Amino acid sequence: MNLLQVRDLETHFISRDIDNRVRIAHALNGITFDVEEGEILGIVGETGAGKSLTAQSVVGLLRPPARIVGGQVRFEGRDLLTMSEDDLNAIRGNDIAMVVQNPRTSLDPLSRIGDQLIRIRRAHSESSEAEARSRAVEMMTAVGIPDPELRLSAWPHELSGGMAQRVLIAMALMNEPKLLIADEPTTGLDVTVQAQILELLRDLVTRMNMGAIIITHDLGVVANFCDRMAVMFAGGIVETGTVGDVFENPAHPYTSNLVDATPERLKIGRKAVFGGAPPDLYNLPDGCHHRDRCRFAREECSTPPPLREVGLKHVARCHFAGELPETAQ
Ligand SMILES: Nc1ncnc2c1ncn2[C@@H]1O[C@H](COP(=O)(O)OP(=O)(O)O)[C@@H](O)[C@H]1O
Ligand code: SF4
Ligand SMILES: [Mg+2]
Repeated sequence: MNLLQVRDLETHFISRDIDNRVRIAHALNGITFDVEEGEILGIVGETGAGKSLTAQSVVGLLRPPARIVGGQVRFEGRDLLTMSEDDLNAIRGNDIAMVVQNPRTSLDPLSRIGDQLIRIRRAHSESSEAEARSRAVEMMTAVGIPDPELRLSAWPHELSGGMAQRVLIAMALMNEPKLLIADEPTTGLDVTVQAQILELLRDLVTRMNMGAIIITHDLGVVANFCDRMAVMFAGGIVETGTVGDVFENPAHPYTSNLVDATPERLKIGRKAVFGGAPPDLYNLPDGCHHRDRCRFAREECSTPPPLREVGLKHVARCHFAGELPETAQ
């Protein structure tokens, strides 16, 4: 079943320069994707592509001067962009949970782990202290923390980076979310711990039939742990499809550059970085935003490319998607 539907989402940074003229950074330009129950969507792209901004826009956690100026975000059919702040808060605390990068800054250093978990449970439900505590133990167990009863009284600084990240995931699971959004959940952890935590996320998604979005700049994470993927470039999604289809048959020149068919591609740690500066969001090129970096650019590319279907639920935003032989290695 469809959980989340994002359509043509546009987010701008609106400010004024020293001459008081309005300046607009086109940070998200028509983002469209779906998340189904029981699947993991990987959003991948180089730094500055707009991945975190996409997550923040979806859950309504943007800070000024960022502002959503168009599009829809539907969660189980309800539009999150037009609902009241109270309704949105209720959904955010229960049905949609977020895990962000850097557990050190996300955990309250002055509060024991157990108290933080219990607080989250009780803030969003009628749960008693005892029920919340037993749920905390259950979730600590689910994320593979040994001696969960004992660890409830641990302080955040007593945990290793990997353990702290597991606690954050346990926190996100306290209220049985239907959708989990994890923004670079394992960046900064060593490769073995990364793999363990991502394995755990996969397992939880299957067992609890959640939907999940994993945001990452690491292609190996997408290749190994996601079902479908969306590739971001300059505030837009340039290609979406199953992980198998996109890796086997990349249809957009940017994706093809990222993937480039080497065995190395499946290793965790392979960054989504490809030569060339990202376009200036205040001054995007007319037509295709990839134009200045694209080795296939030609005259037609000065008009905006549509999303072209290149396979079953496999689309790419390029005038020549599926027709560029070199991109289908
Ligand atoms: N206050 C701001 N004003 C203008 N641009 C901003 C502001 N904050 C972030 N950005 C830009 O928004 C873009 C998207 O950022 P982000 O979503 O954090 O990228 P990612 O998570 O993919 O690395 C970046 O290019 C960043 O420079
Ligand atoms: S539309 Fe043109 S510039 Fe854009 S990705 Fe396709 S070939 Fe390259
Ligand atoms: Mg980010």
